[in-house]
Amino acid sequence: MERSGFNVVLVEPEIAPNTGNIGRLCLATQSRLHLVKPLGFSLDDRKLKRAGLDYWDEVKLRLWNSFDDLQRAQSSETRYFFLTTKAKYAYYDVMFHKGDFLVFGRETKGLPESLLAANIDNCITIPMHGTRSLNLATAVAIVLFEAVRQQA
Ligand SMILES: C[S@@+](CC[C@H](N)C(=O)[O-])C[C@H]1O[C@@H](n2cnc3c(N)ncnc32)[C@H](O)[C@@H]1O
Repeated sequence: MERSGFNVVLVEPEIAPNTGNIGRLCLATQSRLHLVKPLGFSLDDRKLKRAGLDYWDEVKLRLWNSFDDLQRAQSSETRYFFLTTKAKYAYYDVMFHKGDFLVFGRETKGLPESLLAANIDNCITIPMHGTRSLNLATAVAIVLFEAVRQQA
């Protein structure tokens, strides 16, 4: 689908300001933002727009009813990387290609175990110490900008 940049997928995001921040990151990197429902907020939420500043309306946004629907709409060659604290490989061990989909989980629960188990070889992590996980928008920034850096 989107070959010109990266694709950021948020599965069932819950916190509007995180998604607003991530919208800004997507705009800054010419990436598309995919939101998989249900969302924990309304797309009219003022907090979403405040975190995205004036830019929210410019974000290339797609909404999906399920992750299966998203996958069915992409070509069979599409590559997906699933971000989780429980993975063997680090994000910096991957050679990212434009058009890749970077998939992130919800703030309270992460990605569904079934999705991780079905894609075990494409699960990647941001190595860290002393905390259970990073903030969602922080995790997106780290991986997305690494993917962009590799294209330079
Ligand atoms: C706040 S975290 C979810 C925390 C959840 N309790 C868990 O254990 O998965 C939200 C999302 O950010 C991403 N994330 C946060 N820290 C990460 C890390 N160190 N490595 C990879 N992804 C991370 C993952 O996609 C995760 O689903």
